[in-house]
Amino acid sequence: MTTAKFITFEGIDGAGKSTHLAFVADLLRARGKTVVLTREPGGTSLGEALRNILLHEKMHLETEALLMFAARREHIAQVIEPALARGDWVISDRFTDATFAYQGGGRKLERQKLVALEAWVHPHLQPDLTLLFDVPLDVARARLDATRELDKFEQEKADFFAATRAEYLRRADEFPQRFVKIDSTLPIAEIQDYLRDIIAEFDR
Ligand code: TMP
Repeated sequence: MTTAKFITFEGIDGAGKSTHLAFVADLLRARGKTVVLTREPGGTSLGEALRNILLHEKMHLETEALLMFAARREHIAQVIEPALARGDWVISDRFTDATFAYQGGGRKLERQKLVALEAWVHPHLQPDLTLLFDVPLDVARARLDATRELDKFEQEKADFFAATRAEYLRRADEFPQRFVKIDSTLPIAEIQDYLRDIIAEFDR
């Protein structure tokens, strides 16, 4: 019997999820799992090429959603499904919840179009656990401004991120069986304690 699990990390830009990816991967390795750590958009050579385009070129919002799902199709075929079939645990830095949040919430693309793409690209695959790192917009903005050169999404205005965050929170309420919300304003050590508890509970 395979115990392979699919875990996703989500949150608006500046929510601090990246800090915790390696920590959770290490927790799982310490529990004897083989872990594949990957990201979206990206995770394959085609996906990384699409990421570069998506993060830097202006395009129609439907083109953006279609390219996100095109990169995802390749990612699932080349990385996620083979890893799960081997019995590995997969951690992806973002997945389809990000498309609902950014292209649906932020850019206001009709949700039904995203539901149709999701049903086409991964009718039978959903994360087993989604860690949603949640912060107020001003905290996220301050973190972003303190870091690096901002990409196309990171340069968006407050109302875009408010709508993106709201859609993440709405999905967390819609799918409570797989979402865990994490207050990402807490000190890193406290978040790590919480993550340790979440993983222990999830991998019983
Ligand atoms: P990252 O900075 O967390 O790696 O994510 C890259 C950016 O891509 C981030 O601003 C969110 C955005 N994004 C979408 O807009 N839709 C998606 O489906 C995904 C996976 C990411």
